[in-house]
Amino acid sequence: MEVVILPDAHAVAVLAADAFEALVRAKPAAVLGLATGSSPLPVYEELARRHRSQGLSFARVRGFGLDEYVGLVPGHPQSYAQVLQHEFAGRLDIDPANVRVPDGTAADLPAACRDYEEAIRACGGVDLQLLGVGTDGHIGFNEPGSSLLSRTRVKTLTEQTRRDNARFFDGPDEVPRHVVTQGLGTILEARHAVLLATGARKAEAVKALVEGPLAAFCPGSVLQLHPHASVLLDEPAAAGLALADYYRQTYADKPAWQRL
Ligand code: F6R
Repeated sequence: MEVVILPDAHAVAVLAADAFEALVRAKPAAVLGLATGSSPLPVYEELARRHRSQGLSFARVRGFGLDEYVGLVPGHPQSYAQVLQHEFAGRLDIDPANVRVPDGTAADLPAACRDYEEAIRACGGVDLQLLGVGTDGHIGFNEPGSSLLSRTRVKTLTEQTRRDNARFFDGPDEVPRHVVTQGLGTILEARHAVLLATGARKAEAVKALVEGPLAAFCPGSVLQLHPHASVLLDEPAAAGLALADYYRQTYADKPAWQRL
């Protein structure tokens, strides 16, 4: 796991966008794993800027969302299908049909989860998986206690996550209790995992994820098993890290040719 501590959230977004750009230029038909929530929004903004001003093309890219709420009416503005359309696909030249999100409205959710796994496999797997982290250590919506080898399935949100996400809805009661999420085993199969965390609210989860034990209690700690995981942090999110100076030194000394 490479930990990169940057001055602010903008620098985090620029470095994550650099990883997307390098991938898409080298492999125009890349498969992207797309997080939602607030952390990735500056990355999508930066990619849209590069598309507009530098012609960075996503025409052949395919995208897979990490997760989706169960039971929102189709087209609900806070459904992750809508969020990704609005924040990502709608600002790029990607075919919207090539961005898939787990189906939280399916009558047969387990079958929809199996189809989703199969769709990712059929595309050759995810090249770059963007991730955020919840204040309780979740990635995707794999809440504490999730199997470290789990696959796409239905999960129940913790009250902490429902409270955290109430800001996107009209009130805490509007946040669905259930979600469909890629599993931790699914996420581990992405060829490169890039996790972003910004702000002091994430410091505790980041410390557990990076320096705590590998444990289902902090699902994000599963990235300690990933052969190519990059954790991009701003200073407040990195505040609890015991080895922060070592991570800073390592990144400063990194050879220029070596990307994330
Ligand atoms: C959303 C997702 C979640 C969020 C996490 C952090 O697709 O997978 O794991 O990344 O809840 O959310 P923000 O970025 O809003 O703090």
